[in-house]
Amino acid sequence: MRFFIDTANLNDIKEANDLGVLDGVTTNPSLMAKEGITGKKKILQHYVDICNIVDGPVSAEVISTDFKGMIAEGEILAALHPNIVVKVPMIPEGIKAIKYFYEKDIRTNCTLIFSAGQALLAAKAGATYVSPFIGRLDDVSTNGLELIAQIRLIYDNYAYDTQILAASIRHPMHIINCAEIGADVMTGPLSAIKALANHPLTDLGLQQFLADYAKGNK
Ligand code: E4P
Repeated sequence: MRFFIDTANLNDIKEANDLGVLDGVTTNPSLMAKEGITGKKKILQHYVDICNIVDGPVSAEVISTDFKGMIAEGEILAALHPNIVVKVPMIPEGIKAIKYFYEKDIRTNCTLIFSAGQALLAAKAGATYVSPFIGRLDDVSTNGLELIAQIRLIYDNYAYDTQILAASIRHPMHIINCAEIGADVMTGPLSAIKALANHPLTDLGLQQFLADYAKGNK
């Protein structure tokens, strides 16, 4: 399973990258705004800064909602760096844009996926990734993991190449459950990635090993 970090915070991206387990980055307009990255020029430069840290796919989202606008924006984003993946919302104009980018060999991440039908449409249009938002589904009392399992089944039935990028991850159990189901990639915050390493028995065991070593090597 590949690990992407879902943030525009350069320190978090560096920290995850230094762990040696980071395969890519996803961002969205809200995450950019959270870091105070506003204005076209600053946003484009920020994508380049992220690409210079991580050697893997970096999703950069279009903000246009019409086909022409998405194409124009996506082409500018894709030209920034070879690792850029154009993130396109799941709306009819977005589906057309995904098809266009597919034919141009530009990779896409179809975002805001909340149903299996949407994931099927994105795969048919040629999306490289689909991003089902499991945390946001959980937030409205709908099982996000069930959606991941449904999409896995459909994609396997027809051998679609589109990769399932489990998004809106909230905690380490989401990551483990997505890995069990067979999501290709997960994108989550640094806290969820780091939490995978924690276990009190590991801490206790290490304490004991170090204490015994110290006793024997006085
Ligand atoms: C996906 O690419 C999105 O950026 C993200 O996972 C949304 O997550 P949220 O529900 O925590 O905002």
